[in-house]
Amino acid sequence: MRAVKEEQLIKLDQQHLWHPFTQMKDWVKNEPVIIAEGSGVYLTDTKGRSYIDGISSMWCNIHGHRKKELDKAAVAQLDKVSHTTLLGFTNPPAAELAGRLVDILPSGLSKVFYSDNGSTAVEVALKMAFQFQQHQAAKSRTGFVSLNNAYHGDTLGAMAVGGVDIFHSTFAPIFMQGCLKAPSPFCYRCELGLSHPECALACADHLEWILRDHHEEVAGVILEPMIQAAGGMITAPTGYLRKVAEACRKYDVLLILDEVATGFGRTGRMFACQHEDVTPDIICLSKGITGGYMPLAVTVASDRIYEAFLGEFKDLKTFFHGHTYTGNPLACAVALASLNLYETEHILERLQEKIKYFRARLDRLSSNYRQVGEARSAGLMAGVELVRDKASKEPFAWDEMMGWQVCYAAMSKGLILRPLGNVLVLMPPLSISMAELEQMMNIVEEAIGDIALSKQVK
Ligand SMILES: Cc1ncc(COP(=O)(O)O)c(C=O)c1O
Repeated sequence: MRAVKEEQLIKLDQQHLWHPFTQMKDWVKNEPVIIAEGSGVYLTDTKGRSYIDGISSMWCNIHGHRKKELDKAAVAQLDKVSHTTLLGFTNPPAAELAGRLVDILPSGLSKVFYSDNGSTAVEVALKMAFQFQQHQAAKSRTGFVSLNNAYHGDTLGAMAVGGVDIFHSTFAPIFMQGCLKAPSPFCYRCELGLSHPECALACADHLEWILRDHHEEVAGVILEPMIQAAGGMITAPTGYLRKVAEACRKYDVLLILDEVATGFGRTGRMFACQHEDVTPDIICLSKGITGGYMPLAVTVASDRIYEAFLGEFKDLKTFFHGHTYTGNPLACAVALASLNLYETEHILERLQEKIKYFRARLDRLSSNYRQVGEARSAGLMAGVELVRDKASKEPFAWDEMMGWQVCYAAMSKGLILRPLGNVLVLMPPLSISMAELEQMMNIVEEAIGDIALSKQVK
């Protein structure tokens, strides 16, 4: 087949491709970087330049690119069949993966429902929780409680329980009704004006008051445990999750944890809820599930929820939801190979040293630059908040694009980053070596230093 030349690719992209979360008027003014290959933590563009993948290709890569075992698993499955449907049939990788996931999840989460991205994992959870309450004859329990500043994806249901205005407010008129917002439990932005750690407990109290007053209208509470990711990498103080779980139990409201970003070791444990020994009624997983290779998601529910859907055909208790690529065998085969690697390569054990080093380098950033307001992290995911001055916490204006400027500087030095406003997101593959992590953090430091100097804000 004729290879399309780089200039043609650029032309085709600019003429026909509409990129996500991108102002296309600006996009078409610049020549795009075309990523053509990857190996380990490195990505290479069509000009032959290499970059460390500092965002794990949108927070999902775990074992690096071109991981031999994952490549082999995909090829082996290609040799059998690429896609068959789970409607009326099953397939070996989908069944095996369901069992393996149940084995590693907190006990009680036992029924795996497949979809193919984080947003759909959340949609499934919301619909499942809603229909569960209907089956329980709790007909009034139709709404959800979610947190301010939450991000659960871009589909309509996921946006309705989201709370990042810049992404969601435009679409508010078409959201489902009945979603109540609780304060975000993050002392950095404590909406109750309290300091750490009172903030966490007060925010959990606040959520409990909402449940006390409204539980008859609430099907479930949904939140991102430990860290609100797309909301700016904001960490929750320990104790909050446990308290919310207790409140949910008290009012018999389902707890849905969105571990799309935090799952599969990102926070240092396999799942973030394990840090507080909390088992939700429903968990949503995606991103890292295939090591960042294939689109796949699961929504895993307890037996209690599953059993409420059992009945005679005519009872119409069936969960009427599904996607064409549900349980895709290629994706499931790669996910199985990825889970094997956690065991054979002792991923979580080896991660602890990297997390310690990462945290130390974040602290160094924080103390060396007055433009670093905070450097928040959970495991190997971090948000470095850039401010004009740490003392006053005066933010850079949105349109100064300070986050982007630092990312462009990092890119020129061989590191791919993507900001959330003025927050630099640092999220390398879990497989990054100590030397590569050191290289990455050196570049982050240099890039912040360069921009601070050029803006004469140091
Ligand atoms: C916590 C969380 N939930 C859901 C999503 C949506 O996932 P997707 O982009 O795969 O739809 C994301 C994406 O960043 C996320 O961070």
